[in-house]
Amino acid sequence: MKKASKSSSLPEKDNVMEKIVSLCKRRGFVFPGSEIYGGLANSWDYGPLGVELKNNIKQAWWDRFVHRRDDMVGIDAALIMNPKVWEVSGHLQNFTDPLVECKNCHERFRADQIDLKAPCPHCAKKNTFTEAKQFNLMLKTFLGPAEEKTNEVYFRPETAQAMFVDFKNVLDTSRRILPFGIAQSGKAFRNEITPGNFIFRTREFDLMEFEYFIPVPTREEDWQQPFEMWRKEIWAWITQDLGINKEHVHENDIEKSELAHYSKRTIDFEYDYPFGRKELYGLAYRTDFDLKRHYKEAPYKDSQTGEAFWPHAIEPAFGLDRSLLVVLLDAYTEESDGKGGERMYLKLPPRLAPYKAAVFPLLANKPELVARAREVYETLRKKYFVAWDDRGNIGKRYYAQDEIGTPFCITVDFDSLENGTVTVRDRDTAQQERVAIDGLGGYLGAKMK
Ligand code: GAP
Repeated sequence: MKKASKSSSLPEKDNVMEKIVSLCKRRGFVFPGSEIYGGLANSWDYGPLGVELKNNIKQAWWDRFVHRRDDMVGIDAALIMNPKVWEVSGHLQNFTDPLVECKNCHERFRADQIDLKAPCPHCAKKNTFTEAKQFNLMLKTFLGPAEEKTNEVYFRPETAQAMFVDFKNVLDTSRRILPFGIAQSGKAFRNEITPGNFIFRTREFDLMEFEYFIPVPTREEDWQQPFEMWRKEIWAWITQDLGINKEHVHENDIEKSELAHYSKRTIDFEYDYPFGRKELYGLAYRTDFDLKRHYKEAPYKDSQTGEAFWPHAIEPAFGLDRSLLVVLLDAYTEESDGKGGERMYLKLPPRLAPYKAAVFPLLANKPELVARAREVYETLRKKYFVAWDDRGNIGKRYYAQDEIGTPFCITVDFDSLENGTVTVRDRDTAQQERVAIDGLGGYLGAKMK
């Protein structure tokens, strides 16, 4: 959560955004939500391939930041929390965006995202904006049958608060000592004034966040050093796990006057989207702001000195939907097919790709080929999510798998029946090699690291 900053708008690169939106719909990554009822503005549904890609990103994140670390544990908290949480955290008062309305067409805008002296971007009339009002972004609902003030609750606008509210329970049950972190991923809701740009800004989205708790810093280096550690880790995640070109991501050290109410320092990691350079992730030093507000008594006791205190928190926050969007944008590749045409493929890191491989019989009308290919498929699927395709010719099957980023296509042909090898075709190079059927599991495993 941070105050909005104005961002530069880059020219649309080869309509790549349109191509991605169309590919997502056509191949079942992301559909418009509630489409048969005319849709619901800016809501999107992940389809069969989208849910795989999204789950793979989420799992890779959990692996890197939770399972492969000794100093991190996870939680999965309720989406609707006691409304006191949002009062105490400052969200009821501060989680706002400035809103203006055009008096002519009644379209609403975020005052910090448009030029208020320019004509209305919707109806082009001049001098029609109202005074800016602070608009709270939390989505309200009621728990129980009566729509009364006392039953009012909010869908969480961030997952972070549960890490503070559950701090003592996690501490008592997991017996951690500082420094350690609590991680969570799940849905968050914000009544955004101007959602848009596909899954970039929606009113319902998935967050992956953690709070990394440290002792009370006595010198600046005490929080700066773990802050730097997370800064590097975020870069490693972006470049190694997501396979994003580092030239496409930039740090923006947020100016003091622009910091959110709880933050002493925030770095935004911004990506060069086709619609401009905008936020991808955030890294914030939240100090002891939240724990101090939630706990009257210091919740942590030093085991050596017995001294009780409120730990400080460093918070890396990652939007899952934005992660998926930048993975698609960076992976989208069009190049010459070497035969005078063009080919398009998604250069997804194999670990993130929905299917790790596709298995084909060379010919669908030769039962002995189909049977052998089916055996290969059944063996591989015990460990990997693999696709089966026996329609059309091999060229069309390659094309279809390239489009969805399947890194390897395995073809069972007549030689396979003789010598137990198959053709493995690499998505990125379009090169083929013969691999022993018995070695296929190991072959894929080595590529998945
Ligand atoms: N707990 C801190 C926090 O929530 P934030 O910068 O407001 O920080 C974290 O949000 C991340 O969530 C952002 O960096 C972005 O990736 C993602 N995000 C925020 N608002 C979003 C929205 N309306 N739609 C999709 N993703 C969003």
